[in-house]
Amino acid sequence: PASIDEMRAIIEEHLGLEGPLLPILHSLQDTYGCIPEDSVGLMAEALNLTRAEVHGVITFYHDFRKAPAGRHVVKICRAEACQSMGGASLAEETLTKLGIDWHGTTKNGAVTVEPVYCLGLCACAPAMMVDKKVHGRLDRSRVDAILAEAGA
Ligand code: FES
Repeated sequence: PASIDEMRAIIEEHLGLEGPLLPILHSLQDTYGCIPEDSVGLMAEALNLTRAEVHGVITFYHDFRKAPAGRHVVKICRAEACQSMGGASLAEETLTKLGIDWHGTTKNGAVTVEPVYCLGLCACAPAMMVDKKVHGRLDRSRVDAILAEAGA
């Protein structure tokens, strides 16, 4: 778990920068795999912001997490081309099967599922990405196979 002193040190390292909040957030997430809740007040204090302002920035950038991700991050496309090719129900079924909601992590820690808005693979919709690898022309059985490979 994150110690207050360690988080303070990470914050202080970036205070000299112009616009230090994003570099601080990236550094916290690199260190802990997420933005520890306790760090919000420390950042607010150090940067003379309100906690709400810090929270606003954290939620604006979807890459910052409240809890560490699973071993694999699965991003399912929710943009139009994929939706029109059955992506919405495929996503719903996938979440139900895994027993999680968007941004959730499976109990065994294998997989975190995030929404994404277009992977540039519209011609091969519906699409998703597992870690850095994209997969198109998905159907139920391909998704199941990919998730099984990820250990979900
Ligand atoms: Fe899904 Fe473009 S809309 S990849």
